[in-house]
Amino acid sequence: MKAAFSVEDLSFRYPSSKEDTIRRISFEVYEGEIFGLLGPSGAGKSTIQKILIKLLGNYRGTIKYFGKDLNSLSNSYYEEIGVGFEVPVHFSKLTALENMKFFSGFYKKRANIQELMERVGLWEYRNVKVAEFSKGMKVRLNFVRAMLNHPRVLFLDEVTNGLDPKNARIIKDMIAEYRAGGGTVFLTTHLMNDVEQLCDRIVFCVDGRLVETSTPRDLKLKYGKREVKVEYRKNGNIESAIFPLDGIGFNNEFQDLLRSGKVETIHSCETSMEEIFILVTGVDLK
Ligand SMILES: Nc1ncnc2c1ncn2[C@@H]1O[C@H](COP(=O)(O)OP(=O)(O)O)[C@@H](O)[C@H]1O
Ligand SMILES: [Mg+2]
Repeated sequence: MKAAFSVEDLSFRYPSSKEDTIRRISFEVYEGEIFGLLGPSGAGKSTIQKILIKLLGNYRGTIKYFGKDLNSLSNSYYEEIGVGFEVPVHFSKLTALENMKFFSGFYKKRANIQELMERVGLWEYRNVKVAEFSKGMKVRLNFVRAMLNHPRVLFLDEVTNGLDPKNARIIKDMIAEYRAGGGTVFLTTHLMNDVEQLCDRIVFCVDGRLVETSTPRDLKLKYGKREVKVEYRKNGNIESAIFPLDGIGFNNEFQDLLRSGKVETIHSCETSMEEIFILVTGVDLK
């Protein structure tokens, strides 16, 4: 697998700060994957994104973008990346469409603005000034902005934050399609749903350090409880029992229960990513 980014021993300190915000982290983002950086507020996620998009310089360590030192890249780098900032940046006195046309004008490669705006449900509001947009509409427009140049790598910082489930779904579908078309995504989030539904690999970030890189599935296998919960009727009440998944085919008690005809529900008790995060890092995301 080709690395879109190879980050080695990266540290960073804000000029106004006495301590490093990013502390000796290393990771790779492979071409064509959705890489998720997950962690609580203040962990350093946005800082890492800002370093990777060359908004913050003066870092220590090395960062390579498709094998080239990030520091050596010219402004043509910005032709290749799309960025969704944590806080949407628009001209509030201009309409949504005027904003998108303005930003699109910076690029040689240009996506179809109407198509993107239609998809996120904003085309009908294209002539409305962004000042009159709701928070959710600004978040959606922010995503369109990130896609304006058909980017090779897409950076998304808390991309679904503040969206209702329907609109979050639309954006997630668009991210998945972008990846299916060969795009690479660097996604930072504190929302487990985003990670579980989208990411090929994730890394936990706590206090400027990275804790564990893995796939959501492997993490669940490693840390997950392998159990089945059965709810059944007994003397007019609903009771429940938990059985280990291993060897369940030979578990007489479980089989008797199934045969009793009184089973109401059966669920496998997967450990949620949220629980795994706490297990691995010792930090509660909330
Ligand atoms: N411009 C800045 N100057 C000094 N400290 C900052 C600046 N921006 C962020 N920080 C600090 O760096 C840490 C990481 O912030 P950030 O990268 O925004 O975290 P996250 O995105 O994970 O919530 C926080 O403690 C934050 O207060
Ligand atoms: Mg952030």
